[in-house]
Amino acid sequence: MPSLLSSAASQAVVHPMKRQSFALALFLVVLATGCGSKQQSGDKSSPPAAPEQSTPAVVAPVLEGAEARDVHSYAEPDIARVTHVGLDLTVHFDSRTLRGTATLDVLSEAPEPVLSLDTRELTISAVTDSKGQALPWHLATADPVLGAALRIELGAARQVKITYSSVPGAPALQWLTPAQTAGGKQPYLFSQGEAIFNRSWIPTQDSPGIRQTWDATIRAPEALTVVMSGARIGEPKKLKDGLREWHYRMEHPVAPYLVAIAVGELAFQSLGERTGVYTEPSRLKAAADELADVEKMVSVAEGLYGPYRWGRYDLLIMPPSFPLGGMENPRLTFATPTIIAGDKSLVSLVAHELAHSWSGNLVTNATWADFWLNEGFTVYIERRIMESVYGAEAAAMQADLGWDSLQSALSEYKGARAGDSRLHLDLSGRDPDEGLTDIPYEKGAVFLLTIEAAVGRQRWDAWLRDYFDRHAFQPQTSAGFLDDLREHLIKDDAALEQKLQLDKWVFEPGLPANAVHVKSAAFAAIDKRAAAFARSGITAADTQAWSTDERVRFLDRLPRQLKPAQIDALVAAMNLDTQRNSEVRFSWLMLAVANLYQPAVPNLEDFLMSMGRRKFVRPLFTALMGQGEWGRSLAQRIYAAARPAYHPMTADSVDAVVVSAAPKTQ
Ligand code: BES
Ligand code: ZN
Repeated sequence: MPSLLSSAASQAVVHPMKRQSFALALFLVVLATGCGSKQQSGDKSSPPAAPEQSTPAVVAPVLEGAEARDVHSYAEPDIARVTHVGLDLTVHFDSRTLRGTATLDVLSEAPEPVLSLDTRELTISAVTDSKGQALPWHLATADPVLGAALRIELGAARQVKITYSSVPGAPALQWLTPAQTAGGKQPYLFSQGEAIFNRSWIPTQDSPGIRQTWDATIRAPEALTVVMSGARIGEPKKLKDGLREWHYRMEHPVAPYLVAIAVGELAFQSLGERTGVYTEPSRLKAAADELADVEKMVSVAEGLYGPYRWGRYDLLIMPPSFPLGGMENPRLTFATPTIIAGDKSLVSLVAHELAHSWSGNLVTNATWADFWLNEGFTVYIERRIMESVYGAEAAAMQADLGWDSLQSALSEYKGARAGDSRLHLDLSGRDPDEGLTDIPYEKGAVFLLTIEAAVGRQRWDAWLRDYFDRHAFQPQTSAGFLDDLREHLIKDDAALEQKLQLDKWVFEPGLPANAVHVKSAAFAAIDKRAAAFARSGITAADTQAWSTDERVRFLDRLPRQLKPAQIDALVAAMNLDTQRNSEVRFSWLMLAVANLYQPAVPNLEDFLMSMGRRKFVRPLFTALMGQGEWGRSLAQRIYAAARPAYHPMTADSVDAVVVSAAPKTQ
């Protein structure tokens, strides 16, 4: 890896000034290939299809300059860049492969350019121009994290067609057996692209700063529904060999990590005019009930940040192995089923993924070093949406929980690791996954809150709304954000500039002294109760009336070491052994493990076997491994049984905790 990365870094200083390499006004017509049959869509089991005629799409600019150089991509967009991806793929459940072609439209001013693409473990069988003429190509040696550069000599061609197949273990894809679904009858496939996994099923320039429009023709077994992070074009068409063919299109240029697909036995229920939910049929009612406020959330977000630009906002409630809480795939958020709590208490996750429709999907981190521009903004906006829909106290509780997570992240990233408490990260030579900590999320959100407090909400909101308009459908860097802030919000107010300490916030470790801590009044009462419980071990029955966030706060604030009688009393008062709310259950099980509390083991085992959300799974295994022989043997036994069903993202991160720590046999 170092040699590959240093070659990218050596080109980083070509353009010291940030400028746009291609004019915004360049228009390309997106040609929707083979647009399905002309059936009318009277079917309430799916949202309306988009019109079949194509619309012109703008080619988004690529930023240049050192701070926009992406060390996690082999792309050389200043030589040749991909503007559109046309996929034509068949889903093969028997061999766990996607097979077909990717046709890329390329923009280049060079006479005979070499197009550099990102791939990971793709089996490539042919590369041709649009007329079927073979083009010379070369697949470089693969790096374990970045994959292999595919270099194609374009000559005069500005469109290339790559014939390829993914491998069964492609890291972007999880192939589920029927037994791993709720229905038990049909297999299931889904993709997870962020940060740099999509190159394992799409050969393109997989860099968040190189936005591309896309369209897809997908063939899958006819019993299954194909959904993607774009607009469905027409109705699926039945083919002869037991397959159905689906067409999707994204007319806005998007970062390539945002192309997503899921294929399974899915049902759809509308939630409002432009919102709805897909999931397996037996889960649909519970999901729709939980998500009843989604249409309202979209309207509230629009009121704050300007028009929702993606048409529909649907959710796909995933199978339990989904490794994340949520993923903001455009038009179709993917979300863990662990948010279906029965009382809407975990819908802040929806507010979060919806917020990415502005921060992340509309204005996108140019490289993973500026991941905080995606996530910090999104956490801030998530809480603004929560405040509008559920009230200031609900939002304050979330912010206060976030503050706690930030404090523990800061205590982890100090000394030799202090660099990772910066907002602008140095990820060169590292997996971008290493940047996925509470720092970009919670330090980023507190930074924005601190600016809001300094300038007042009215001015701040106006700036933020205009910021999204000014940078819509474009990549952004930390430097670009600071430039915009100085030009349009701070102007020449030297006192304000001094007060904010912007550069300190973005480029230095730790938390600046002006950080604003939102405190929840409800939590102040909960914290007193936790302290009283720690002293006396007595808790009254009124804990039953607490909200999910109050329960979580209470459990997290208890001393890690309790007496067995205290724990028994706690379990009884809060019904902890039957608690099904995933966040409360997680907080309880962390406490139980810290106390080696044997009666909780069946519950722990059931939780770890029933879902694969990394946020819950990894800390529980880590906690077990820290509990001597009792914990280690439990962890190893449970992990051996649970691992086959976990997603590669979850399995990889738990392997590092459980497998590598396992005593060597022999
Ligand atoms: N975009 C992220 C998920 C992500 C980040 C995937 C980086 C891969 C690499 C998503 O919006 C997210 O933040 N999800 C959180 C939930 C959220 C409520 C904080 C998660 O999955 O836990
Ligand atoms: Zn996010």
